[in-house]
Amino acid sequence: MKILGISGSTRKPETSGTYRLVKEVLESTGCEYELISLRGKRISGCIACLGCVEDNICVIEDDMADLREKIVDADAYVIGAPNFFTCINGLTHALMERLYQFRHREGDTLWGKLAVAVGVGGSNGDICCDQIEQFMAYNFIETIAKVSGSGAACCYYCGYGETCRVGAIVMMHGEGYKIKEEEIPDVTKCPQSIESAQKAGQLLAERLKNNHDRQAVTQKMQQVMMEKFKEST
Ligand SMILES: Cc1cc2nc3c(=O)[nH]c(=O)nc-3n(C[C@H](O)[C@H](O)[C@H](O)COP(=O)(O)O)c2cc1C
Repeated sequence: MKILGISGSTRKPETSGTYRLVKEVLESTGCEYELISLRGKRISGCIACLGCVEDNICVIEDDMADLREKIVDADAYVIGAPNFFTCINGLTHALMERLYQFRHREGDTLWGKLAVAVGVGGSNGDICCDQIEQFMAYNFIETIAKVSGSGAACCYYCGYGETCRVGAIVMMHGEGYKIKEEEIPDVTKCPQSIESAQKAGQLLAERLKNNHDRQAVTQKMQQVMMEKFKEST
């Protein structure tokens, strides 16, 4: 049983809320895992060239090639993304788009696998969890839990946060507000986020160890997607 964790944050692992929540989920599984940070990786979005149609292998030459092998090998995923402008950040979005390479014809490599979605925002990461779940569903991967957290927006550190009229601090508290150290959000100090990550990890381990039936999950997710497509037409 091998779980692949991917943190889409561009911050250093030590300061990224996303990285730390993804790690908490992984550690709580008690399973073998690998955790990869996308920070510094060169991954472009899908260019719709259809170069992957025949063999389900993307032809773009960048850091996605190494990741592809790990994605294929893993039994489950813990994917995390920071909230940028009420959306998963560009780097995670690029990675998710590139999963298109697995979606052709008999390309069932990812079908029926399991995932946990992690999202972190200055406010919260709910929207990121929903978007990751959506990307997973396109590959018939079931998202079994979502973990959302609140991390420190850059406005707390840029040096102008208390006076910047477009920044999060003035938006939330008004001009002239003095930020106290203990008010700076940090997922590791938030018991709800940590507990939610731990529960998600335990649930993932339970599902994986409990005769995980990929065929049944595939059928369920195929149904989910058929309903979605019908709704959207
Ligand atoms: C370009 C940019 C846009 C952001 N937009 C939002 C936003 O729309 N909503 C939100 O809640 N947080 C927003 N944030 C704050 C981040 O989500 C927050 O800093 C989070 O902790 C980042 O996760 P990380 O610590 O794992 O990198 C934004 C941050 C950046 C750099």
